[in-house]
Amino acid sequence: MNRWLEEKFHRLTRHRQEHILRVVDLMEKLAKIHGLPSDDAYLAGWGHDLARELSRAELLAEAERYGIAIDEWFRKEPVLLHGPVAARWLNQAQVGSLAVWEAIEHHTIAGVGLSPLAKALFIADGVEPGRHFAARAALEQAAYASLDDAYRKVLDETMTYLTSRGLEPHPNMINALKDSGGNTWTKH
Ligand SMILES: [Fe+2]
Ligand SMILES: [Fe+2]
Repeated sequence: MNRWLEEKFHRLTRHRQEHILRVVDLMEKLAKIHGLPSDDAYLAGWGHDLARELSRAELLAEAERYGIAIDEWFRKEPVLLHGPVAARWLNQAQVGSLAVWEAIEHHTIAGVGLSPLAKALFIADGVEPGRHFAARAALEQAAYASLDDAYRKVLDETMTYLTSRGLEPHPNMINALKDSGGNTWTKH
């Protein structure tokens, strides 16, 4: 593994490292099935949560340092910035490619017009076997059959979960679901 990546990875808690390993494993499977470049899939998995354990203040400071636009959702939930910040880190370290940085950038709130690699990362992050929710195994199976179908289903599941906890999904996520054909979602 790349030395920079390895150092960042080893600073994370065991809990986070194990999640990342499961995401990498799933990304490798999805890449094989759907014909994605295996290096990109691997690095997207390894890199996606490198900034996940920064504090709210640290995430906001990093976002400001890199000139990331901080909208009201990010301001309220700075944890959402861990994708964009990790993407800038990898870019600065010249680890990965544009495709990898884009996938990492969008893995927290999804978006419209994502590449198959970015969809795969969003799905793998949400349905890796360490997650515990009723539809998990079915969504993992859906991902082996179709990234587009699984992306729509994971978006739907994520938004249902957020609203059940009284949290409003980011507009990017709402637009992503509409764009993916799942335009039946409404605020509960
Ligand atoms: Fe994440
Ligand atoms: Fe993750």
